[in-house]
Amino acid sequence: MTFKNKNFESILKEIFKFVIEKYYQVPIDDRYKIFVHKKTSGVDSDVYLCKAYIRAMTPVCLYAKHGKDYEVLTKKEYDLMLSLWVKHYQKEKYLCIPKPIYYSQDANILFTERIDGITLAKFLHYKAAPICWHIFHRKIMEHVKRAAIWLKSFHTITRQPIKLSLESALENDLESLHQHQSACLSKELFEQSLSKLYKLAKNLNLLLHYKTGRHGDYSIDNIIVSHEKTSAIDFAQFNYGTPLYDVAKFMVLLDIYGNFIYHNTNFFRSLATVFLTTYNESNRIVSFSEDDVKIYKPIILLHELKWTELFEQELPSKNPFLRYTIYRINKYAIKELKNFIGK
Ligand SMILES: Nc1ncnc2c1ncn2[C@@H]1O[C@H](COP(=O)(O)OP(=O)(O)O)[C@@H](O)[C@H]1O
Ligand SMILES: [Mg+2]
Repeated sequence: MTFKNKNFESILKEIFKFVIEKYYQVPIDDRYKIFVHKKTSGVDSDVYLCKAYIRAMTPVCLYAKHGKDYEVLTKKEYDLMLSLWVKHYQKEKYLCIPKPIYYSQDANILFTERIDGITLAKFLHYKAAPICWHIFHRKIMEHVKRAAIWLKSFHTITRQPIKLSLESALENDLESLHQHQSACLSKELFEQSLSKLYKLAKNLNLLLHYKTGRHGDYSIDNIIVSHEKTSAIDFAQFNYGTPLYDVAKFMVLLDIYGNFIYHNTNFFRSLATVFLTTYNESNRIVSFSEDDVKIYKPIILLHELKWTELFEQELPSKNPFLRYTIYRINKYAIKELKNFIGK
């Protein structure tokens, strides 16, 4: 395919048409209609919803993720999803991931099947002021429990035959932080946080557990729920290490959302507790305590500061709500880090 002198949307439509013909074996005549709609624009990728209406068929509906700069990331995400899909998820009915369909090297676009349902974030948002509070409450608790079960199963599937102590896990994650110092954080606060974390790592009770794959961005935005199915999407930040990272990230982000977006701190804290209890129940890999999560909290905050700052540079000035949210998250993270080092 040659894409010279074409805008991105027509390139996307062309590849989408190719994917339909190849993977769905539908000969496309001139009575089809294709629509692409930009869904999100992130730091390093844009996500599009692609729909094709082909005569009497049910419409074909895929998501396309286009890596903007870091070409390897989208390819890496595709390879990972494909191996997870083949080894495990193609037979799963309830705990799922989207089926990866095609990766275009030329345009750096990853196509995945669309998952029915809504993200946990949207679910919380739309129903935050419900008429029947108790029904909403029961439903959201059930979804959060399912999110914990999804994560536990993912960690079991990706478990490696290597044991880690919490101390060595923490040290590995601290190493990766050195390249990540955020501009919104003073050098002093960054270094003091790191040195306190290193000290903590040295004094930890050794808790041996398995190294596992980590989703890397396990949050309410990346979990899709429907009637019986729970799915996770967005594997761009997958890596290996202690599964505590994913558990702590989910819980810390719940705390942040509860404080600044949904203004319901106690309810979100109770969701975090339910998440941890469910994750620990009959877990054959490891159980984590609230204190373990607390140890990882500064690491998650330091990572979040890096992402929000990167994102802030990309934000169009016309999106004041997002800017305000990021400003509040940064402020909260810095306040919590100061608390952590005892300032
Ligand atoms: N396979 C999919 N099924 C359903 N929705 C999806 C799918 N992939 C992406 N989305 C939607 O697009 C949004 C952004 O996609 P995601 O892969 O999380 O990219 P980002 O890196 O921008 O967070 C998600 O929050 C979700 O609403
Ligand atoms: Mg996402």
